[in-house]
Amino acid sequence: MGAPARALATVEERARGVAERHNVSEIRIPVLERLELFQHSSGETSDIVEKQMYAFGDSDEAATMVALRPEGTPGVVRAYVEAGLDRSDPEQRFYYVGPMFRRERPQKGRFRQFSQFGVEIFGRADAATDAELMIMIDELRRDLDLELNFEINSLGDAECRPRFRQALLEYGRAHLAELCKDCHQRLERNPLRLLDCKIDVKIAEGAPRSLDYLCDPCRAHFATLRELLADAGVPNNVNPRLVRGLDYYTRTTFEAVSRAVGAQSAVAAGGRYDGLVEALGGAAVPGTGFAIGVDRLALALEASRSDVRPDVALLAIGEAAMRVAMRLAGEMRAAGLRVEVLSPDRGLKALLRRADRSGARWAVIIGDAELGRGAAVLRDLEASSQSEVAQRDLVARLTGVAG
Ligand code: HAM
Repeated sequence: MGAPARALATVEERARGVAERHNVSEIRIPVLERLELFQHSSGETSDIVEKQMYAFGDSDEAATMVALRPEGTPGVVRAYVEAGLDRSDPEQRFYYVGPMFRRERPQKGRFRQFSQFGVEIFGRADAATDAELMIMIDELRRDLDLELNFEINSLGDAECRPRFRQALLEYGRAHLAELCKDCHQRLERNPLRLLDCKIDVKIAEGAPRSLDYLCDPCRAHFATLRELLADAGVPNNVNPRLVRGLDYYTRTTFEAVSRAVGAQSAVAAGGRYDGLVEALGGAAVPGTGFAIGVDRLALALEASRSDVRPDVALLAIGEAAMRVAMRLAGEMRAAGLRVEVLSPDRGLKALLRRADRSGARWAVIIGDAELGRGAAVLRDLEASSQSEVAQRDLVARLTGVAG
């Protein structure tokens, strides 16, 4: 089951707030794009392009192949290049939010339609920008009062990556007989994928590490990033196996991991993609970004929150009591309490069961007897104790104890 709409909306709203504070502006990008956009960016050997895209032929004259976007980055780069910003005003900061589609096996935290909140920054090659992206996610984490940890790695650049790639290729060839079918097929085209194979875990562990192959500028970039993260108090571990499932990354890659969403623990991920703008027909402009899995973060939020439960369940027995209950509920809400008035069509026992199940902290019960005395029964659902309170004192009692 997915996360409740309210939790999704909270994550999106807070993420917007963080992005705006970092002077990042919203961009709207299409849900439907040409298939080749993803083939040329996410990568031919990525799981996304190989098996997860919802792609189909348009019935236009050219029978153009289109796809529901599996991620936001390629569409943002395409829009950026099409608007000519890569040449006229390359330094840009965008965020987007909306549905993405991947044909994955659904499970908790993994859906075929899910929402991402992404940020893409163009024209900045410095490590401070990579750090800022992680700081944004960390600010959101704080805002939502969640625990997250970051895993980081560097994959090198056009200068040093070929040496690493060659070392991996040779390592893979030496273990060819032990590789899973996918790795076997992909080895020559993209040996990096060996590192994040979920089947060949042992082989991946013994494989060469990108960090050992970095050239001096990449090494310095990574060192600066780590210093800036330490300065900002962003908790992180270096994970040399973090290559990410997309082909466009250079230098920095990272994932934010939560323990609250089970096996699908990556709630946000991203990295630098310095060659992508050029690969999609633009100028040689660096880029870096991340996407938050809104559903996963919302699930983590749900798992950690208790304030989504009502403070008060109001139980009215009979029509006259219901009128009073509606008035009292209004007063309680005006005082900031979360209140649900339960159906008057049930008996007291059923209503108490329902109040319990709602997770409410308090039940306020108004029957004929209380009605006559201008009172209500205030029941503490956690302690299972109760007392009679004058209706006019209820809000003060509740805000005193619930606040
Ligand atoms: P990604 O790692 O493929 O990266 O996805 C980012 C996040 O989206 C994941 O960490 C996860 O939280 C969420 N996500 C992915 N697939 C699913 C799914 N099937 N169900 C629920 N949530 C999911 C990207 O998409 C890159 N575009 C990120 C990026 C932006 N890199 C640079 N800029």
